[in-house]
Amino acid sequence: MNHAALTPLSARRGGPLKGRIRVPGDKSISHRALILAAMTVGESTVAGLLEGEDVLNTARAMRALGARLDRGEDGIWRIHGVGVGGFAEPSGPLDFGNSGTGCRLAIGAVAGSPISATFDGDASLRKRPMRRVLDPLEKMGARVLSAAEGGRLPLTLQGAAAPIPIEYESPVPSAQLKSAVLLAGLAAPGETTVIEAEATRDHTERLLKHFGAKLVSKPHGEHGRRITLTGQPELEPSSVVVPADPSSAAFPLVGALIVPGSELIFNAVMTNPLRTGLFATLREMGAKIEELEKRDDGGEEVADLRVTFCPLKGVEVPPERAPSMIDEYLILAVAAAFAEGTTRMRGLKELRVKESDRLAATADMLRVNGVAVEIEGDDLIVHGKGSVAGGGEVKTHMDHRIAMSALVMGLASDNPVRIDDSAFIATSFPGFVELMRGLGADLA
Ligand code: S3P
Repeated sequence: MNHAALTPLSARRGGPLKGRIRVPGDKSISHRALILAAMTVGESTVAGLLEGEDVLNTARAMRALGARLDRGEDGIWRIHGVGVGGFAEPSGPLDFGNSGTGCRLAIGAVAGSPISATFDGDASLRKRPMRRVLDPLEKMGARVLSAAEGGRLPLTLQGAAAPIPIEYESPVPSAQLKSAVLLAGLAAPGETTVIEAEATRDHTERLLKHFGAKLVSKPHGEHGRRITLTGQPELEPSSVVVPADPSSAAFPLVGALIVPGSELIFNAVMTNPLRTGLFATLREMGAKIEELEKRDDGGEEVADLRVTFCPLKGVEVPPERAPSMIDEYLILAVAAAFAEGTTRMRGLKELRVKESDRLAATADMLRVNGVAVEIEGDDLIVHGKGSVAGGGEVKTHMDHRIAMSALVMGLASDNPVRIDDSAFIATSFPGFVELMRGLGADLA
């Protein structure tokens, strides 16, 4: 996203949050649905796609690689893909804006086509590590023709004409890395295996099966998985229904927990257990999050959720929970600040390489608003006092989740909380400000 002027915004304490809402479609599934449909011959459809900047950049990239993507007036996307290994060489750089997911998954998908493509992004994405995906993809036969220091963006990749299947033990718990290898493995003959010591979100695996690929996922060690994909499948055009994003629901949900008198109902939020670590943690803190109607929607579990205001207490969050709530620590830290007692969140190393250094940024966000917080190694410790002074200005560092977390904090703080820039919220949660205002939030 290019914008010259910052668009600050403030949140102040007001009445309770009340209403019934559906938050936008899941970001992870939206990227994957577009990419897999673009790798399938024939027409696939995607309903409920998240139309945030990040996903729209992935759509543009898939078009530049030769797929046809049209959004109907009914809001359904129709995609005519080019087949596994069938991407055309793009005429210019592929710009992924702020999105690590779009970029890393597309790098994996391109690695299995005999074309070269240049990948780029905004100042935040240019700082993020790409070596982690390039290492296994080079083993599969892709070549990095050029890259910025440390393998960062902008980088040009030459995909493999004859990709080699590999067995890869992932050194970091990253669903993006796992997905990049599996997407490249689609074009390789034989079996491509990814072993992860800690299970990360499995939407790529679910969608690969949905599109007709043969994939087997087995437990590995105490918390891990061993995932084997049989390459060169005939992917079948499919229809995907994208459920509501639990990572987006997290913001109004924590708002309801900390603003007295609130009650919110969320329609059809995805409750895939590899994504709902935040809900488990909040329940341990004393939150009442009721699942009203559980059902299966397009291969994912969903449920309506009812959340009401309630006092919270500090807890210890174990490191093995991190993959299932990796994007939620910022908003959990806000909940922890309003809780009574200390919350210790352990094993947050990966937070340092997100859209910003979220470990440092979370501590700063809380500190400027009068909350006692410490970083010890990779742990974040928040000393909750049941209330937050507020009154601070939060630097958002081109990070949508810092922006939304700080605004939610301001809804219950003694003094307003201001953010320096609200523009990046549109990367993942278009309409956030209007939706929150509709629930009664004072954002101006
Ligand atoms: C995502 C994986 C996570 C997460 C990101 C979305 C995905 O990143 O933080 O927002 O869709 O695969 P990592 O793979 O870097 O952990």
